[in-house]
Amino acid sequence: MRTLLLLSAYFGLLSETSAASIPAVKPFTVNLSSRVPHMLDLIGKTTLPAAELAAAHASLNMSLTTGMPLDTLKSLQNEWVTSFNWTREEEQINAYNHFTTQIGHQTVHFIHEKSKVPNAIPLILLHGWPGSFLEMVHLLDQLMLSNSSQAFDIVVPSLPGFGFSSPAPNEWSTSDTATLFNTLMIQVLGYKSYAVHGTDWGSVVGFDMYDQFNNTVKAAHFNFLPFFSLTPEQLTDQGIALTAAEAIQEQRAMDFENSGIGYYMEQATTVNTVGLALYDNPLGQLSWIAEKFIIWSDPRRGTGPSLVTNNEILRHVSMYYLTQTFDSAAFIYAQNPTGKGFSYTYRRARTNQPLLYSNFQWNMLFYPERLVATIGNLVYYNYRKTIVYPKRFTIWEAYQE
Ligand SMILES: *[C@@H]1O[C@H](CO)[C@@H](O)[C@H](O)[C@H]1NC(C)=O
Ligand SMILES: *[C@@H]1O[C@H](CO)[C@@H](O)[C@H](O)[C@H]1NC(C)=O
Ligand SMILES: *[C@@H]1O[C@H](CO)[C@@H](O)[C@H](O)[C@H]1NC(C)=O
Ligand SMILES: *[C@@H]1O[C@H](CO)[C@@H](O)[C@H](O)[C@H]1NC(C)=O
Ligand SMILES: *[C@@H]1O[C@H](CO)[C@@H](O)[C@H](O)[C@H]1NC(C)=O
Repeated sequence: MRTLLLLSAYFGLLSETSAASIPAVKPFTVNLSSRVPHMLDLIGKTTLPAAELAAAHASLNMSLTTGMPLDTLKSLQNEWVTSFNWTREEEQINAYNHFTTQIGHQTVHFIHEKSKVPNAIPLILLHGWPGSFLEMVHLLDQLMLSNSSQAFDIVVPSLPGFGFSSPAPNEWSTSDTATLFNTLMIQVLGYKSYAVHGTDWGSVVGFDMYDQFNNTVKAAHFNFLPFFSLTPEQLTDQGIALTAAEAIQEQRAMDFENSGIGYYMEQATTVNTVGLALYDNPLGQLSWIAEKFIIWSDPRRGTGPSLVTNNEILRHVSMYYLTQTFDSAAFIYAQNPTGKGFSYTYRRARTNQPLLYSNFQWNMLFYPERLVATIGNLVYYNYRKTIVYPKRFTIWEAYQE
C-alpha cells in the first residue's frame, strides 16, 4: 500500500485514484452476438456496381492508388455472409482472460494473461489502427508458450475509442493514453516495472511511455515508430546509405507518404464525415479498412506464412462494426494531428533503457538502423522477412540489463 501511495505521488496520478481506492478489476466476456443478425442482413443487402469503373488492379504494393478493388470487395462480402462465423471468433477471443477497470473517467478493457512463473516479465502490447486488441492475439499465443526461464505476464489493452475501452474525451492525446496505461500497469495491476511493445498508434503511445516513465519502462520493442520516414535525400544528408533491399523498403515508404495517406488526411481533419457515413455500414467499413490490411501487409496474404487471411480481415472489421467504434477509433487521428501524434521530427527519448526494433519487410514505413539509434538506446535491430514475431528472448534479455 505504501509503495503504491509513493508511486502515485511520484507520477502525479489522477487524484481520484489513491492507494485507498485502487481501481477494481472486473472480469469481462465479449458478447456481441445480439448485433450479428443486423450486421449480416446489411452486408447481404448492400449492392455493389456490376463492373469496375476504371482499370483497377489488386494492389500488391503501394504503387496502385485506385484503392479497394471491386472483385476483392465482392468476394469478401460473399465470404462474410456465407462462411464467416462470429460465434467461433467470439469463442476464440474469450479463450483469453479479459477485464475492465475504471481509471479516472475512462473505462479500460484489457486482456491479462499471467504466467505461472513468479519472476515473469510484465509486457504490455499496444495495437494500432485499423486494428484492435485482436491484432495481438497471435503474438499472445507465441509469448504464452511455457518457457520457465523466459516468461511473460501479458497485458493487451484496447486504446481509448477502440474495442471495449471508452472513447477518448475532448482534448485527450496519446500522451494521456500513455499515462493511463502506466497507471494500469503500476497502480491497478501492481507491477513495479514492465516492458512495452507497440505498433502503429501503439508505437506512438509506447514511445511516450518509454520516454515519460523511464523508471518503470525497463525495455521497449517496436516494429513501427511515431515518426514518418525520411526521404532518401534526408537519409543521405545524415550519412545513412541503404542496401538494395533497404532501398526497396524506402521506396515503399515514399509511395505510402505520397499516395497512401488519403485516409490519414480524412481522419485527421473531417473524421466525422467518414465516421458517421460508415457508422452503420459494415460493407463500407470493410472497404475502408480491408484496403489497408491488404496493401499494408505481406503481399502473400492468404498464402504461405502470412497470417493475414480473409477471415482475419473479416473478424477485425466485424469487431469495429459490432462494437460501434469505427468513428471513435478514427478520432485518434483528429485528436493527434501530425506533429502531436506521428511526427516528421525525430527526437531522442529521455531514457537510457534499452530500445529494440524489428524491421518488417512489408511495413509501409521504413526506419534504417542508424536512424532508430538516434531516438533511444538501441540494443537490437533485426530484419524480418514476413510476419514472424520477435523472438521473446530478445526483449527478455534487454529487460534484464
Ligand atoms: C450472450 O448474450 C446472450 C443474451 O444477449 C446470451 O443468450 C448468450 O448466451 C451470451 N453468450 C455468451 C457466450 O455469453
Ligand atoms: C509494385 O506494383 C507494380 C504494379 O503491379 C509493379 O510494377 C512494381 O514492380 C511493384 N513494385 C515492387 C517494389 O514490388
Ligand atoms: C459457428 O461456430 C460455433 C462455435 O464454434 C459452432 O458451434 C457452430 O456450429 C458454427 N456454425 C456454423 C454454421 O458452422
Ligand atoms: C527457453 O528459452 C531458452 C532461451 O531461448 C532456450 O535455450 C530454451 O531451450 C527454452 N526452453 C524451452 C522449454 O523452450
Ligand atoms: C530518466 O530521466 C531523467 C530525466 O531526463 C534522467 O535524469 C534519468 O537518468 C533517466 N533515467 C533512466 C533510467 O534513463
